Amino acid sequence: MKDLNITTNIQVYQYSELVEEDKILVDKAKAMTDKSYAPYSKFHVGAALLLSNGKIVGGSNQENAAFPSSLCAERTACYYAHSKYPDATFVKLAIAAKFEGKFTKNPVSPCGACRQSILEYETLAKHPVKIYLYGEDGVYVVSKVADLLPLCFDSFQE
Ligand code: THU
Repeated sequence: MKDLNITTNIQVYQYSELVEEDKILVDKAKAMTDKSYAPYSKFHVGAALLLSNGKIVGGSNQENAAFPSSLCAERTACYYAHSKYPDATFVKLAIAAKFEGKFTKNPVSPCGACRQSILEYETLAKHPVKIYLYGEDGVYVVSKVADLLPLCFDSFQE
C-alpha cells in the first residue's frame, strides 16, 4: 500500500490585483447574476466565458419548478458558447454569486456536474480553461478545471 497525495494550486487574488482582461471577465460574471432566474433558491449565479475568438459569453442559473430541470450558470454559458461558436476554444471562465443582494464573501465554486461539463471542452480543445472564482474577500484562480476534479473521468484518457 502507498499513499497518493493530490494537491491543487489555487492563487488567491484581491480583485484590485487582477489584470484588466481578468477584471472585465469577473465584472461580466458579476453582471450576469442580475440575469439569473432563481425564484426558488434565490442564489443568483453568473458566469462569463472568454473564448479564443475574443468573445465573452455570459450565462446565469435558470431554475425550474421541477427542480432537477434547472441549469447552473456555468453550464448555461458553456453550452451556449459551444453552440454558437463551435470552433472556438474556452480560455477563461469567471463565476460570481449574489444572495440577498450581496455578492458572496467566499468564492463561489462550480458544482461537480459543471466541473465535468467544463472538462469536456478542456479535453476536446486540449487547452486549459483558467477558472476565476469570485468572492468579495478574494478571487480564487485555478489554472485548469482538471485541477478541480482530481481523478477525473475523461473518456479520451489512455
Ligand atoms: N448554481 C450555479 O448556477 N452554479 C454553481 O456553481 C453552484 C450552484 C445554482 C444552482 C441553483 O440554481 C442555485 O445555484 C442554488 O444551488
